[in-house]
Amino acid sequence: MNKPWGGRFKDDSSKLLEEFNASISFDKQLYKEDIFGSKVHAEMLYNIGILTYEEKNNIISGLNKVYQEIEDGDFVFKIQDEDIHMAIEKRLIQLIGESAKKLHTARSRNDQVALDFKMYCLNQNKEIRLLLLNLIETLLDISKNHTKTIMPGMTHLQHAQPISFAFHILAYCFMYMRDVERLIDDYNRNNYSPLGSSAFAGTPYDIDRNFTSSKLGFNSPCYNACDGVSDRDFALDLLYSISMIAMHTSRFAEELVLWSSYEFKFITISDSFSTGSSIMPNKKNPDVAELLRGKTGRIYGNLVSLLTTLKALPLAYNKDMQEDKEALFDSCSNIILSLKVLIGMLKEVTINKDEMFKKAQIGHITATDLADFLVQKVGISFRESHHIVGKIVAYAESKNCDISALNIDEIIKQDSRITREAKEVLDLNYSMNSRKSFGGTSEESVKYQIEFLSKWLNEKQAR
Ligand code: ARG
Repeated sequence: MNKPWGGRFKDDSSKLLEEFNASISFDKQLYKEDIFGSKVHAEMLYNIGILTYEEKNNIISGLNKVYQEIEDGDFVFKIQDEDIHMAIEKRLIQLIGESAKKLHTARSRNDQVALDFKMYCLNQNKEIRLLLLNLIETLLDISKNHTKTIMPGMTHLQHAQPISFAFHILAYCFMYMRDVERLIDDYNRNNYSPLGSSAFAGTPYDIDRNFTSSKLGFNSPCYNACDGVSDRDFALDLLYSISMIAMHTSRFAEELVLWSSYEFKFITISDSFSTGSSIMPNKKNPDVAELLRGKTGRIYGNLVSLLTTLKALPLAYNKDMQEDKEALFDSCSNIILSLKVLIGMLKEVTINKDEMFKKAQIGHITATDLADFLVQKVGISFRESHHIVGKIVAYAESKNCDISALNIDEIIKQDSRITREAKEVLDLNYSMNSRKSFGGTSEESVKYQIEFLSKWLNEKQAR
């Protein structure tokens, strides 16, 4: 039979086998990495005397031609060619003849696919990181304008204490900062070339793995050839890191959905990032934020899918591992588009300061400040002051007003030890700016956080 591996076979492949076995419909995405890897492999084969100068040049210019055909959409992907590696090799043989048949010397599809897929993952790692930096920059710009913007900070989705809008947004900046750092760690941990592992046991040819590894941009060749073809940790690391980004994004997206509702009105999402309803003419829906939240499901699924595929697989390569790609492609393309769309939406969002301030006046959110005042200025124990302020809150509720709207005489009536300066701590601005502790919400603390993040961002962007 006329498959590259068909020597020992008498009969042709069943059509069903071809359909089931092929990965070309999706692994064609790896053509850039595959051609890059093959060119460097050919150079190495020339360096060690396996290819003549002419054969090497023929192979490289032939591979360049194949590359151009794929880029131009002229390359015909056929299921009979099984995967991108064999499809490219077959076309190379058609284009340059005999010398192409030497390219696969000292190499196997096992190390070839591990190499292509790893380079793909490392490239996506970089692209996602750049988008995260862009997102952090966008969030920092918003934060810089809102260090004085007061909103009701929440726990249990109930009004809790006054914070600045900048403080809230900065919390996301720090999550995304860790996501960038995690991707950098992943990159460094996985930056080892599998090329030259061959089938899994190494090769009798005197290959130069240091040459291929450094030409391909790796830190060094992987140290164990069996590990080199069997390991898919690098893909799982990326799937996990993407899951974390998606989780952070889904929390943020959920808040954007809430904030853009009539109940909150904290933000207005621009028309260009909103959608309408097919029946209700009044509707303006935050579909973008909802989809950002929704993408998280499939992204987690992709992580669990590959973990499950790899579970209990014996060493070294097994065909099961072909199932690694679609999950990863899907997570990468979805997180990349998600981040782009989030950045785009944030650049156009309107922050409704006045609405936030209005809502901060509901829920007695300076009650903790009064309790702290009774401890610090009057010398009452915190447990007792908590109880006293609880009674004052109940009194305000009975009057249908916020604790900050009570006059001082009414407050003192609840406990005669309370002094007149207590009124001051019920002020929202006073409360927010009193939280000067490291990492707190005061303007001073928040400016320090912005400074820290800006410095970190500059360093990362300079690289
Ligand atoms: N298409 C295969 C994959 O994606 C390539 C490696 C095939 N190797 C083999 N020995 N059959 O995993």
